[in-house]
Amino acid sequence: MVNLTIDGRKLQAKAGRTVLETARDNKIHIPTLCFHEGLPAYGACRLCIVSIERHGRERLVVSCLYPVEEGLVVRTSTPRVDSVRRTVLDLLLARCPDSDVIRGLAAKYGVEESSFKPEQGNNKCILCALCTRVCQDTVGTSAISLVNRGVERKVATPFETFSESCIACGSCAFICPTGAITVKDEGDTRVITMPHVTMEFKLKQCSACGRHWAPERQLAFMCRQAGLPEGSYDKCPDCRE
Ligand code: SF4
Ligand code: FES
Repeated sequence: MVNLTIDGRKLQAKAGRTVLETARDNKIHIPTLCFHEGLPAYGACRLCIVSIERHGRERLVVSCLYPVEEGLVVRTSTPRVDSVRRTVLDLLLARCPDSDVIRGLAAKYGVEESSFKPEQGNNKCILCALCTRVCQDTVGTSAISLVNRGVERKVATPFETFSESCIACGSCAFICPTGAITVKDEGDTRVITMPHVTMEFKLKQCSACGRHWAPERQLAFMCRQAGLPEGSYDKCPDCRE
């Protein structure tokens, strides 16, 4: 075990845990946007920055990537840390002026209006890549990816049209921290709206109760993955014995 101090509390952590994980294990709050415990850390948003002190030297590190070290002294909020977070949120607010999540976080750090020029007609995407990573690493479909560089960077389906590899599971919408992707079931259709494309998918009807309950593509994918015959999921969970 590794001994360290976070915000004055003496703690122990398993070697290999990050500062963020250790803080969370001990119910110490560090703000994050691009981190999800189900995925490897990515280090994109920089909001989780903290101050660390070792051998009398202090510096700022990204806590979701920084592993715990023996004798480390961590401070999750100092004037310098808060100032960096304020700048990060100031920039994000200019990028996503319509995002309630970013607006709320920025307000907590005293940023009501961005000091940078707001982007016109922008969506709510902060380019955290949670959606593309869950699609690729967890679901295993790679239906969306981050494309282009600089100001042109965005989440996109191939050719920005209907993605043939999308199974309509909605994981991207579930994990998106800002609501930039939405999923809505209407009658027999699931509508997934992304910053640059809207896709519609047919929902399977339960053979017993008639309810439209899951995307046909997702069920077909699950059958393929499990080696089950197509049509194995004929009934909704409520009607299965
Ligand atoms: S759409 Fe959401 S999850 Fe995907 S990169 Fe943008 S903010 Fe992150
Ligand atoms: S949560 Fe660490 S950089 Fe985003």
